[in-house]
Order: sequence, then C-alpha cells, then structure tokens
Amino acid sequence: MKKREEFVHFNEVAYDVLKNYLLHQIDSVKNIFVIVDDNTYIHCLPILFQKIVFLKKSNIIKIKSGEKEKNIYTCVQICKNLEKFKATRRSLILNLGGGVITDIGGFVASIFKRGIRFVNIPTTLLGMVDAAIGYKTGINLDSIKNEIGSFYVPEFLIIDTHFLKTLPNKEIFSGIAEMLKHGLIADKKYWKQMNKIQIDRNENEWKDLIHKSILIKKKIVDRDPKEKGLRKILNFGHTIGHALESYFMNINQMIHGVAVTMGMIYESWISCEINGLSITDYKEIKSTLSVLYPMDNKISKLEIQKLLLIMEHDKKNEKNKIQFSLLKEIGKCSYNCQVPHSLIKKSFFIN
Ligand SMILES: NC(=O)c1ccc[n+]([C@@H]2O[C@H](COP(=O)([O-])OP(=O)(O)OC[C@H]3O[C@@H](n4cnc5c(N)ncnc54)[C@H](O)[C@@H]3O)[C@@H](O)[C@H]2O)c1
Ligand SMILES: [Zn+2]
Repeated sequence: MKKREEFVHFNEVAYDVLKNYLLHQIDSVKNIFVIVDDNTYIHCLPILFQKIVFLKKSNIIKIKSGEKEKNIYTCVQICKNLEKFKATRRSLILNLGGGVITDIGGFVASIFKRGIRFVNIPTTLLGMVDAAIGYKTGINLDSIKNEIGSFYVPEFLIIDTHFLKTLPNKEIFSGIAEMLKHGLIADKKYWKQMNKIQIDRNENEWKDLIHKSILIKKKIVDRDPKEKGLRKILNFGHTIGHALESYFMNINQMIHGVAVTMGMIYESWISCEINGLSITDYKEIKSTLSVLYPMDNKISKLEIQKLLLIMEHDKKNEKNKIQFSLLKEIGKCSYNCQVPHSLIKKSFFIN
C-alpha cells in the first residue's frame, strides 16, 4: 500500500500534486472524466476549475444526488458516457463528491475496461474521513446496501476542507460520528480531543482532526485491506447502527451518523456487560454521544424484533451468528464477538 505522504494530500499542496499528476501522467485533458452529482456540480466543481483551470476542458459526468442513485443503472449510465467520450485504459476518473460518488465512481473505475485509474476528491466530511479511504467501492442492489462492489485503490486522495463550507450541518454530524468512532476503537487521545468538538471550530483545528482521523482509518485498512480480521473493528456501532438505519429508512429517514451514534451507545453497553469495558468508560462514552445526538427515539418491543431480523441478515455475519465489534476500553476494540439475542434486546432499554 502507498505511504501516507504519497496518498493523502491537503488543501493547496494537494492541488499542486493533482495538477502535476494530470500534466505528467495523463495524455490529454480529454482523457480526464470528472464525476459529480447535482450538488457538487454547483458547489465544488467551480472550486476545482478555479484551482486547475485546464480541467474546464475535461469531460464532466453528472448524476443525481442521493443514496438511491448508487445502483447498477447509474453505473451503466456512467459507463455509456465514458464510452461516448472515448475513454481508454489510459483514462482517469476524478470522483468529486461524497461517499456516494466515491463509491460508485470507484466501482466504475474498477470495472470499466477491466480497470482504469481514479482519484478521490471527497467533498463531505464522511467522505474525507471514511468513504474515500477504505479501498472499498460499491453500489446497492435494490435495498441491500453495498451488495455489489470491489476492493480497488485510488491513485491518491485530495482533501480540501474548504468544500465543507457548503455542506449541510446534518452531513457534518454524520462525519463527526465516524471520527468519534475512530477515537473509541483505536486512539484514546484522539477521542479526548474529538469529544470536545464544537461545530464552529476554526479551519486549522478541523484540518488537524480530519488528518488524524484519516491516519487512524488508513493504518487499520492497510494492515487488513480485505477485512479478514482487524479491519472489522471499524464496524463498531454499525451492527445495531445499520439495522436502525435500514429499519427507519422508510419511516422517518434516520441519518447514518445518528444511527451509528445510537449503535455505539448500545454496543458500548454490551461491551461493558461482556467485553470488559469499564463502567467509567461506558458512562463517558454515553454522556458524550448523547449530548451530540439526543436519544429521543424510543424503540418498541416489536421494533426490536424487526431490528434483530435485520441484524440476522447482515452480510458480515459468520456461521449464521450476528458478529459484533466491541470495546475493551476507550481506544481498544475486539472483533468477531458473539452476543446473545437477550443481551442485544436488553441494550435497547438502557437509560
Ligand atoms: N467505501 C467505504 O468504505 C464507505 C465507508 C463509509 C460510507 N460509505 C458510503 O458513503 C455513502 C455516504 O456518503 P456521504 O454521507 O458523503 O453521502 P453523499 O455522497 O450522498 O453526500 C451527502 C449529500 O451532500 C451533498 N454534497 C456533497 N458534497 C457537498 C458539498 N461540499 N456542499 C454541499 N453539498 C454537498 C451530496 O450531493 C448529497 O446530497 C453511503 O453510500 C455509504 O455506503 C462508503
Ligand atoms: Zn459508518
């Protein structure tokens, strides 16, 4: 895997690196394809053009924004556009957008003509600290999230924190949830730094926190790129979180950050019951997370049954057992933990 210095580039320096790469590694600007969605077309593409003027002559492929566009039909539409504009194996895709764009753009890059190069330019906080850095690409199959995909590594990552200025607050919160998770699973010092987070931090503080978060995730995925073991710790909070997200998707649209935060609280309680997490650590986690995301969703017994059914169908399960990643202490996490159904149910009633 590429070293961090070669892989993640920040703000002004990043554009120099990208410009240099485009000028020296790509035959012609017509061989560059920028994938955007409705929102990044308006808010982010003009910034990219301002930084690298010749990209105005590149090919722009625009898709609609939103999770439901992350499907095979949109992939076909992107491939047809690549074909129409005569993309070759020497072409390059620049993914300019949030996790939806980096996931679908990365997936297309991995299959088009059996694989072409791509660069991720994440424009959401979640994209910067999580989606763009996982080497995982993918699309949904109907309502099954990320059912089709590949492991495929971008050339490098361009992080421009200025993009965050136009991002709605609820999207910022989704990113913060993953950053807090990074502290909880792997770095106590970072957790302490993060849990004081205020949304109006100055730009340098944000940059520093984003940078550290990327380093934590990159270190984990580099040690286990294909999720055979260690990488599973990144799923902390997500076993219950994903179930909540899927269940509430059609009711009142629970955003990923809220679902994962609730998941982290319930899974911390389970960690305290069976994985050695101390009560002091649990209380610290719960008080920090519930200030950021008040837990006003009361979950009924019937809903818990439905949530368990969803968890039983999680693709990360092994031997028909729901797999959890649980904390041992703040900054340390175990994986492949099996939890009795009774304890999962009980976790929803903690207060
Ligand atoms: N591959 C991985 O390892 C990985 C990890 C985590 C999440 N993901 C995936 O990431 C996706 C979620 O990513 P997301 O939260 O970034 O969602 P997203 O890409 O849908 O972006 C959220 C919204 O913000 C808009 N937007 C993006 N940048 C903007 C900007 N700078 N200003 C204004 N609006 C902007 C988008 O158009 C969209 O409406 C999910 O599909 C998830 O499965 C993948
Ligand atoms: Zn997540």
